[in-house]
Amino acid sequence: MIYPHEIEKWVVEQKPLDGFLQPYVFQHETNKSRRVPRSGDFWMEVWLATEGRRNLPEVRRYLDYLAEMRTRFVHIQKEMMYENRDATHQLGHDQCTAGWAGDSMMPIAAYLYYLHSRGLKGSVLECGVFKGGSTCCLSWICKSLGFGLYAADSFEGLPSSEGHYGRGDFKGGYEEVRSNLKRLGSGMTTNLIKGFYADSLKGFNEPLVAIWLDVDLKQSVLDALGHTYSQLLPNGVIFSDGLVDDVDFEQERIKGECGEPGGFVEFFASRGIPYKAKPGGPRGLGLIVPQCADDENLLYEHDKLVELFKLAELPGLYLTDRDKQLETILQSNSWKITSPLRQARRIMEKLWTHTNPRA
Ligand SMILES: C[S@@+](CC[C@H](N)C(=O)[O-])C[C@H]1O[C@@H](n2cnc3c(N)ncnc32)[C@H](O)[C@@H]1O
Repeated sequence: MIYPHEIEKWVVEQKPLDGFLQPYVFQHETNKSRRVPRSGDFWMEVWLATEGRRNLPEVRRYLDYLAEMRTRFVHIQKEMMYENRDATHQLGHDQCTAGWAGDSMMPIAAYLYYLHSRGLKGSVLECGVFKGGSTCCLSWICKSLGFGLYAADSFEGLPSSEGHYGRGDFKGGYEEVRSNLKRLGSGMTTNLIKGFYADSLKGFNEPLVAIWLDVDLKQSVLDALGHTYSQLLPNGVIFSDGLVDDVDFEQERIKGECGEPGGFVEFFASRGIPYKAKPGGPRGLGLIVPQCADDENLLYEHDKLVELFKLAELPGLYLTDRDKQLETILQSNSWKITSPLRQARRIMEKLWTHTNPRA
């Protein structure tokens, strides 16, 4: 799992896990077949949500940020639900005006915090605005982290048809988006870029920490990345909709011929750009890390993030009676772990010795 840099650093230098959980390290010899080893990551999550949160400002800042973003995103999601009189998509997907607003944006919030903690400075580019649900969420993230924000869309819906998508689907008008941003955004300047990407993104020259693509069509991925990929900073990442776990991935690469997967496959192959990709969260969110060497590991794991959210959003569960709660966790599995502390430390040390955040 990845953690904000100041937390990684503190863990390695201060060794906070020493002693933590020590009384709970035990072995089940009776039922070996049901052993469920817990990774060092799990103990990091527990530590972050309990002792780390209590004792370390860096951890509190990170968890407070995640909690604040989540509250805002859920509020945006509720407020963004209204009747879409322009809905045309044959399966009704554009009836959901809230788009990606809500919990689905949390992995992006967490990853951007991480990039910020690693010193990346620049802007986030969103391609695919619709009514502005994801844009409003990004405006809170970017305001909080000091990133600029660009959001590009035709504001006339999809430019052409492909699969179940038809030309004009997912239309969100320019004024409609402006007004949603005014109502639900953070108030920071959001630069709306109007037009089809083949033209509107020509000459785009802002340094980018991340590109978030939700454009549905293969050609739109090619057009958007064609004009903006060169602006992605070293260690910057791409998040995309349409990359479904178990379907669109094969050994940390994307597979597919059409839609968003097809766009990425063609883009990276035609330019000979090495990359790694993995599922980044729910709803077909994919994480793509370009220029990733074969021997680099993508440490980001969505499941671990969810575990942390669960732990961190229920502070009372652990803070009131930690011992009892930990007993409960441990007893819920039949498991063996000789040293969770050592495992967690190894992961952290590995991270810390690499200057590259992907380790
Ligand atoms: C699924 S919607 C985006 C949903 C949005 N992210 C949300 O959370 O509500 C896809 C958007 O991509 C835009 N789009 C797709 N291809 C485009 C292109 N080539 N140029 C401009 N806009 C495009 C459409 O206009 C539409 O607003």
